[in-house]
Amino acid sequence: MDKSSLSQASKIIKSGELVAFPTETVYGLGANALNPQAVARIFAAKQRPFFDPLIVHISHIERVKELAADIPPVAEKLMKTFWPGPLTIILKKKEIVPDIVTGGLDSVAIRMPDHPIALKLIELSGCPLAAPSANPFGRLSPTMAIHVKKHLGSSVDLIIDGGKCSKGLESTIIDVTEDTPKVLRVGALAVEEIESIIGKVKRPKKKSAAVTPGSLPYHYAPKTKVILLKRNEPFPKITADSGYLVFGPLQSPLDYHPHALSLSLSKDLVEAAANLFEYLHRLDNEQLKVIYIKPIPSKGLGAAIMDRLRKAANTFRQEKP
Ligand code: TXA
Ligand code: MG
Repeated sequence: MDKSSLSQASKIIKSGELVAFPTETVYGLGANALNPQAVARIFAAKQRPFFDPLIVHISHIERVKELAADIPPVAEKLMKTFWPGPLTIILKKKEIVPDIVTGGLDSVAIRMPDHPIALKLIELSGCPLAAPSANPFGRLSPTMAIHVKKHLGSSVDLIIDGGKCSKGLESTIIDVTEDTPKVLRVGALAVEEIESIIGKVKRPKKKSAAVTPGSLPYHYAPKTKVILLKRNEPFPKITADSGYLVFGPLQSPLDYHPHALSLSLSKDLVEAAANLFEYLHRLDNEQLKVIYIKPIPSKGLGAAIMDRLRKAANTFRQEKP
């Protein structure tokens, strides 16, 4: 991506239109966060309900002051340690942040992404960017430009291709508006890493109802039905029209199956996170009857991966027979 195309992208943002751009987590669908009409176009493009607030992306830590009314010391510590990076911090908002961005809440979600294209785009646009993941509401998140083009292409004015996202999972979200910091969404920054800096935090319960307005128990779903197996549950009879997603080596009879993929042959959670959405998109393109998935260890990044897999599988449990 050269300078002139980024300046073209920033012109589109300035004129109140939408640009899909890469971050280290997933692709975002960006608009000028301070322009309510531009932000409204995001909701329309994603078919996202207005009660589900957006994350505001900035390119310099100092910019937080313009958006947040109160920055507690714990937030300062988190920003200094983890920004730029996959951590979104919820802070009390200032008047300047439009209600449409925050779904009418008095708090705002802010993140400084760790991606040169995202940072440059924000800087050239001269405004913070409101950006959800660039996928239709409730569906698989995009980790490659092609995912955005396929599922949102017609409603985005420009898609910047920055290759595959290095993290592949959405940012971890932490709310610091109350005394004890509370993780609202597990994500690309392991909760253990956060606790090593600021001590114990509250964690979301696995089976709880939505703790953030947008964190429904079903989400991240491919079109193809997903079944998440139990820890020691074997795959049902292997068939040609099913997909299989495992963690670790592909063992017989899946080693030569055309629709069997391993998130990481060497059981590396970082690699598995980066491959997760891409592999689900791939299997979803194969016209399969069902995708079977083996659970993975729920520690560190594994907890965030399992959160996505559970919600994808839940989507199909909600369906009426
Ligand atoms: O990695 C990411 O976070 C990506 C990239 C593009 O930055 N963005 C992303 O946005 O995942 P989205 O819209 O898919 O998820 C944002 C989540 C939603 O669940 C929303 O409810 C929550 O953040 N959220 C936003 N503002 C909030 C607030 N003020 N209080 C509580 N939750 C909030
Ligand atoms: Mg999303």
